[in-house]
Amino acid sequence: MSNGLLKGKRGIIFGALNNMSIAWKVAEIAHAEGAEFVLTNAPIAMRMGEINELAEKTNSKVIAADATSEEDLANLISQAQEILGGKLDFILHSIGMSPNVRKGKHYTDTNYDWYHKTMDISAISLHKVLSIAYNSNAMSDWGSVVALSYIAAQRVFPDYNDMADAKALLESITRNFGYQFGKKNKVRVNTISQSPTMTTAGSGVKGFSEFVSFAEEMSPLGNASAEACANYCVTLFSDFTKYVTMQNLFHDGGFSYTGVSQEVINKFAK
Ligand SMILES: NC(=O)c1ccc[n+]([C@@H]2O[C@H](COP(=O)([O-])OP(=O)(O)OC[C@H]3O[C@@H](n4cnc5c(N)ncnc54)[C@H](O)[C@@H]3O)[C@@H](O)[C@H]2O)c1
Repeated sequence: MSNGLLKGKRGIIFGALNNMSIAWKVAEIAHAEGAEFVLTNAPIAMRMGEINELAEKTNSKVIAADATSEEDLANLISQAQEILGGKLDFILHSIGMSPNVRKGKHYTDTNYDWYHKTMDISAISLHKVLSIAYNSNAMSDWGSVVALSYIAAQRVFPDYNDMADAKALLESITRNFGYQFGKKNKVRVNTISQSPTMTTAGSGVKGFSEFVSFAEEMSPLGNASAEACANYCVTLFSDFTKYVTMQNLFHDGGFSYTGVSQEVINKFAK
């Protein structure tokens, strides 16, 4: 069912790798709600070719951009405005990658070149996107930028490794740039802190499927799906959330405020 929530809105969607990606679901729902957008991903991710299927389905163009390259991002942001015929109303930053996680390097024995890459790809890329959009006046007044985060920014989840530090930085950039962009032209910037979700990035974390089950039993509403996350993103791009900015918004079925659940206590019953 569509309500035309994003009718007439133009945007850029980063991070649709395959049909499990949160960004993929956002693209499908944003399209159904009337948005027009450009899809983008790292050149290496394009090789899989799946994004072209999404582009066809959502009647959108694809522009490759490595989110760590200022040159690629500047080109993307200017081309997207040309293709869409005006300034941008929304941007989804759905990007995360840690070489330390991928290669099984423990947090206490981190490879610092990889650590820098984790920060650059997963957090500083948001600063770069915002800075280029800000300085080139690419966003419409009352536009909206959403990035995806995880509760490891606030609480310790040992196997999340250096991604926890990246998410803390991502949320800090959201607050600080949110202030600047709000002052400049009422652009809002928020993060959504999503439940663990079975995607390519998610399942790269050690012990992920056990962790999904744990979170499911700890959350009164159960884990939020990728589709539910996409619905939430779309509300934040819509005009119904105009005064929400600089926030980290938990979208986790209540996990973040649950100390312990009866289901988890029962597992310790003698
Ligand atoms: N899956 C989860 O459990 C979960 C939970 C909370 C938050 N998140 C966050 O959601 C976001 C999306 O992840 P997902 O779970 O949909 O997984 P995903 O693997 O489908 O998406 C991650 C995306 O990042 C892209 N990417 C990596 N390096 C890039 C670069 N240099 N330039 C441009 N793009 C690059 C990948 O190509 C991919 O499309 C990430 O920020 C992730 O940390 C995921």
